[in-house]
Amino acid sequence: MTDIVNLTPQEREAELDLNQLKQLVGLVEYDADTDPFPVTGWDSIVFVSGNATQSAHYYQAAWGMELVAYSGPETGNRDHKSFVLKSGSIRFVINGAVDPESPLVEHHRKHGDGVVDIALEVPDVDKCIAQARKAGATILQEPEDVSDEHGTVRIGAIATYGDTRHTLVDRSRYHGAYLPGYEARTSNFVKRDGQPKRLFQALDHIVGNVELGKMDEWVTFYNKVMGFVNMAEFIGDDIATDYSALMSKVVANGNHRVKFPLNEPAIAKKKSQIDEYLEFYRGAGAQHLAVATGDILGTVDALRTNGVEFLDTPDSYYEDDELRSRIGNVRVPVEELQKRGILVDRDEDGYLLQIFTKPLGDRPTVFFELIERHGSLGFGKGNFKALFEAIEREQDKRGNL
Ligand SMILES: [Fe+2]
Repeated sequence: MTDIVNLTPQEREAELDLNQLKQLVGLVEYDADTDPFPVTGWDSIVFVSGNATQSAHYYQAAWGMELVAYSGPETGNRDHKSFVLKSGSIRFVINGAVDPESPLVEHHRKHGDGVVDIALEVPDVDKCIAQARKAGATILQEPEDVSDEHGTVRIGAIATYGDTRHTLVDRSRYHGAYLPGYEARTSNFVKRDGQPKRLFQALDHIVGNVELGKMDEWVTFYNKVMGFVNMAEFIGDDIATDYSALMSKVVANGNHRVKFPLNEPAIAKKKSQIDEYLEFYRGAGAQHLAVATGDILGTVDALRTNGVEFLDTPDSYYEDDELRSRIGNVRVPVEELQKRGILVDRDEDGYLLQIFTKPLGDRPTVFFELIERHGSLGFGKGNFKALFEAIEREQDKRGNL
């Protein structure tokens, strides 16, 4: 039986329209009955930060996110501060150590700022953990009920690449701001006049960088443990520049809300950007988060005004005849894209507009992508070369090429 994709409570609360969302992140209908590990969508993305207090301000001031919940010494959590921010249907949780003995300190020393937990919303935590165990995954947290006056959350967790985890959350019996232990919190931050209500509506995909030779292992992990399906596949020359190369495969949950491209470095003349990531993150980890917007032009303009820096795209990208004819008709003049450095890619299903930020933290590791889909379910394969050349120019400036 095909499950008709419905809005999740988070999406309803964000007042997203189902048809708009289908376009925005490329949702598909699928047979949930045969899914050994049903995943509804993203629950939250948990970051470790060297200074969560200031990072929480950054995500509000630069990315237009809204503070909704908090845990810290004032709420009885003496180990760390934790700020929960929302934009549309997606939640970011920013954690930073208060206690010098907090395990977050060692995590941050090793990895720097980054993603520690890609938490997923599932209808049946116990079923998922049982399937994960059967398929040989590492169980980090057995299913348990966590409760407070707002209800009960069923929660469990499994390990994925590097020190990253997937917490599995069923919050269907919970009505609090985030999780037990957190209190609802708003901020007195005031957005600039004229700034859009929000700069992104949803999360589209998270890319994982894994070590040389490990990509297929992790693809198999997502297939066997979590029932994810393979999407487009990019290998070898598709993503090679003169200096840098990588291999990438993409897995997605049944309804395609959750999409994980997985990259590994490939042998090339110089150090690939994936190698640079692995070196500075000290291992495998989440490389970029692609956030979906219905108005990439307005979002990029607002982000630039807020001080967010993007990778430059050479003018040749827009002036190249072959590229221009491949781009075809898009909803805005190419000149408008060129002014902002927005990239276009097209496949048999449609096209997408995308742009990449510079690394968000001090290390050349985690960055964001903005994506506006128009039918295309791809990831910008046609842009990989142009993009990598831009990344390499930055890598070269850092002396890491
Ligand atoms: Fe991406």
